[in-house]
Amino acid sequence: MDLGLKGKTALVLGASRGLGAASAKLLAAEGAHVIAASRSGEAPADGMEGVKLDLSDADSVAALIERLAAQPVDILVNNCGGPAAGPAKGQSSAAWQAAFEAMATPIFAITDAALPGMIEKGWGRVVTIGSSGIVQPIPNLALSNGVRGAVAGWSKTLAEEVAPHGVTVNMVLPGRIATDRLAQLDGIKAEKTGAALDAVQEASRKTIPAARYGTPEEFGAMVTFLCSQQAGYVTGSMIRVDGGMIRGH
Ligand SMILES: NC(=O)c1ccc[n+]([C@@H]2O[C@H](COP(=O)([O-])OP(=O)(O)OC[C@H]3O[C@@H](n4cnc5c(N)ncnc54)[C@H](OP(=O)(O)O)[C@@H]3O)[C@@H](O)[C@H]2O)c1
Repeated sequence: MDLGLKGKTALVLGASRGLGAASAKLLAAEGAHVIAASRSGEAPADGMEGVKLDLSDADSVAALIERLAAQPVDILVNNCGGPAAGPAKGQSSAAWQAAFEAMATPIFAITDAALPGMIEKGWGRVVTIGSSGIVQPIPNLALSNGVRGAVAGWSKTLAEEVAPHGVTVNMVLPGRIATDRLAQLDGIKAEKTGAALDAVQEASRKTIPAARYGTPEEFGAMVTFLCSQQAGYVTGSMIRVDGGMIRGH
């Protein structure tokens, strides 16, 4: 299937590794020109443009916004690093604020800067990577669960506002996809419980009907489809890529 992405320009945030990198590579494979942003600025494959961006640094976000005004994009894939693990009880205001300022407000501002160019063309795609924790909060990941809930509310509100302009706004929610981040979280769990890493991973896989972790490519394929011409009537949606892990709708 030709996804109609040849000649489109896509900006992917958090694109040096993991879910962002896989999404960037698949968009590029479909013929999009990809700008891959991350703190390292490393493009995950040849032929992409790497750009330095630290979402938790206001000046760095402002520089990207300035660039977007001069060089509009057709597609924006929002992604960020995950926050520190920890419970809801006893989280400091400073920790909540830092998580919000790394994972929510810069995403809102960068999207705002990308929208005028999309609206002018009457075509655009905004896809935000979230977490299954939006649907079913993940124990000991309170900052992630809380801030991503806010991002979900923002995404849904925005979808309605820009739908008449041919711009779709969706979220893709990873369950457990084998990336550095997941390995780090499994490691934290092993340390906390005193169990071996293998045992933690095996127990985790047992909770997933597909009985395995997903691959970044399986996740990136959904992001890429939502960016396609064919997905033009899909907006305001949150789509889980989780091997059936979340039992609710
Ligand atoms: N993998 C899963 O199963 C899973 C499940 C639920 C939710 N998630 C969430 O989905 C997102 C992506 O997950 P992942 O597994 O791909 O994570 P990952 O392997 O840790 O990759 C995160 C990416 O974001 C970039 N990044 C981190 N902090 C950044 C910052 N301050 N500014 C700009 N870029 C930044 C990293 O590159 P640099 O280090 O070069 O900046 C990297 O490219 C995370 O928010 C994660 O919490 C993942």
